[in-house]
Amino acid sequence: MALWDNINSLETLQRLCERCRDCSLAMTRQTVVFGEGNPSAKIFLLGEAPGAQEDACGRPFAGRAGEVLDLLLAGAGLTRQDVFITGSVKCRPPKNRNPYRGELAACRPWLEKQLALIKPEIVVCLGLVAVQNILDPKAKLAEVRGRWFEGPGYWIYPTYHPAAVLRSTVKAELPAADLKSVAGALSKMQPGLRPYPRPASSG
Ligand code: URA
Repeated sequence: MALWDNINSLETLQRLCERCRDCSLAMTRQTVVFGEGNPSAKIFLLGEAPGAQEDACGRPFAGRAGEVLDLLLAGAGLTRQDVFITGSVKCRPPKNRNPYRGELAACRPWLEKQLALIKPEIVVCLGLVAVQNILDPKAKLAEVRGRWFEGPGYWIYPTYHPAAVLRSTVKAELPAADLKSVAGALSKMQPGLRPYPRPASSG
């Protein structure tokens, strides 16, 4: 669509996204959680969906999972200013249920346009919803986590959602090691060259 092609800044995209009514989540949301961070980030963190706190304040990972995420980033020598963080859907699903397939599909153009504008080197999928959204709808997290996959113009690297650490379903050491691998791989990548050299720990 010509109008879509004419969007050439994240600010414009965000303004349009905040008016989105393309799925029924628009009826129950308080705010659209567009995402935030470095508009030229090399690392793009893709989560699941906003929860209650994110819905209230309009920022991604604003709650306890966000505190875990900040610690994981810090362990890899990164801050939120180094990365861009967003969700697979931008509006909170009622009662924090997983987003439905149709909601993910309705939200997908916003994500695609964010990726097109930011042009990250690596998309880190935080949890199964993100993995199934952009890698493979049938993927199992245990099988893909910590491995590198070639996406359209960027690498895809699945790891656990920080909320899994809070639930104690995974030890923090695993996503911590994954984010360190991501930071290490990024430092070896050659910007502007595609396809990139495969990161050393490629699966
Ligand atoms: N996706 C998540 O998983 N959490 C957020 O806070 C926002 C997007």
